[in-house]
Amino acid sequence: MTDNIIIFDTTLRDGEQSPGASMTLEEKLQVAELLDEMGVDVIEAGFPIASNGDFEAVSEIAKVVKNSTVCGLARAGNKDIDRAGEAIKHAEKRRIHTFISTSPLHMKFKLQMEPDRVYEKVIESVSRARQWTDDVEWSCEDGTRTEFDFMCRCVEAAINAGATTINIPDTVGYTSPDEITSLFRRVIETVPNSDKAVFSTHCHNDLGMAVANSLAAAKGGARQVECTINGLGERAGNAALEEIVMAIRTRNDIFPYTTGINSKLLTRASKLVSAVSAFPVQYNKAIVGKNAFAHESGIHQDGMLKNAETYEIMKPEDVGVGGTDLVMGKHSGRHAFKDKLKELGYELGDNALQQAFERFKALADKKKHIFDEDIEALVDDQVGAQGDKISVIAMTVIAGTGGTQKAVVTLDVDGTHVTEEATGDGPVDATFNAIKQIIPHNARLQLYQVSAVTAGTDAQAEVSCRLSEDGTTVTGRSADTDTMVSSARAYVSALNKLMVRRQKDVQNAQTSAAE
Ligand code: KIV
Ligand code: ZN
Repeated sequence: MTDNIIIFDTTLRDGEQSPGASMTLEEKLQVAELLDEMGVDVIEAGFPIASNGDFEAVSEIAKVVKNSTVCGLARAGNKDIDRAGEAIKHAEKRRIHTFISTSPLHMKFKLQMEPDRVYEKVIESVSRARQWTDDVEWSCEDGTRTEFDFMCRCVEAAINAGATTINIPDTVGYTSPDEITSLFRRVIETVPNSDKAVFSTHCHNDLGMAVANSLAAAKGGARQVECTINGLGERAGNAALEEIVMAIRTRNDIFPYTTGINSKLLTRASKLVSAVSAFPVQYNKAIVGKNAFAHESGIHQDGMLKNAETYEIMKPEDVGVGGTDLVMGKHSGRHAFKDKLKELGYELGDNALQQAFERFKALADKKKHIFDEDIEALVDDQVGAQGDKISVIAMTVIAGTGGTQKAVVTLDVDGTHVTEEATGDGPVDATFNAIKQIIPHNARLQLYQVSAVTAGTDAQAEVSCRLSEDGTTVTGRSADTDTMVSSARAYVSALNKLMVRRQKDVQNAQTSAAE
């Protein structure tokens, strides 16, 4: 058995499935490209039958990903499998992941199927998927609550039908490390053709054991781990990719495996996924939390100064943490700025570079110290606003005690400047009301979130606004040293995304009507 662990990232499928974490096509592409660059072996890009948007995302990701295998999820039905097959067909390396529930509870209440019918469907679905690709993964949903003998029968049948990966998910986050090690060991020992497939683990975090369980499954013989950036996922989330990778790397004495992940990109991936999903990362989150490498207490600081290993088991730079560096200032030139962008992983065309440089200079006029995070926020903001039809031109807000809060906002709407004034319950409400007067809409604000990009009272405020309208949810983001300006821009950015989605829905409806 090889020591290499295949890293299967499902941020764009199981992660995106968590309520409120939906991403736009552009955001999914950004995440997929970073996962590819980071060395993720398999990217589960979505569930193509779920919606036209999901299909399009998987299909576009399949076109841009260079090294990773692109995978589409499908239930055990021909329509699902064919849709997944269509979506991944442009990928260099493609996989279909098909699943069906096998636990008594799920078969009886969810599927309302007898075990024998489920068994037949395992064979039918894997055989169908094999018509699209040689790389087929089969999962027994609610695997850790499935009867052992029935699971072994299904696994054997799936491998005989052509499955090359067998995934045993802990769908409800119910198992424990000892139990899952023994489960994998026993299944691999019992199933006669188990050597013809790679065994995979997929753990949810309902009891806070997803990462421990995934590593324990590897001990039992799993050689693929399914995980997500920041542990994003349904309910309490999935196993966190960054934690699995760094546990293997840091405690290689007890987890003697290898992965192909470039750990220096973990922090960037965490920030990107947090920003596009508008799911903040808790400060004390392992590996990627703001405090993961911060040493506040005097005793710890003293130890750190004498020898970093006293309190640090990993080097911050190994996970791409370099945020405490004072990177640039007002006098930094275009060339240095370009080099810095390259170091942070951004490659911009000439026009975009010039625009980013001008924004950097403007920021340097307002803010004394500019950190890596400031530059990342600035460029992400600019990239996110590309092609927007509405933008914020000017605004004045009156806040404070005594008197009504008021905002005057001027927007550029398709080349025309429109100004409106509104009041509200606080300056943010007044600002959003003024925007609503310019762009009337029924979208509901589901989330408004502000976080400081760096320390200090002159820090940029990064704002996320999540809007939802008729079942479509989008998130807009922006960063500025003025919280009101970034709030207005984030709201407008979400409106731009909604407009694009509406336009796409109309186009899709027209195409379906014409077919
Ligand atoms: O948690 C689960 O069981 C899943 C399957 C689709 C693999 O996400
Ligand atoms: Zn799952």
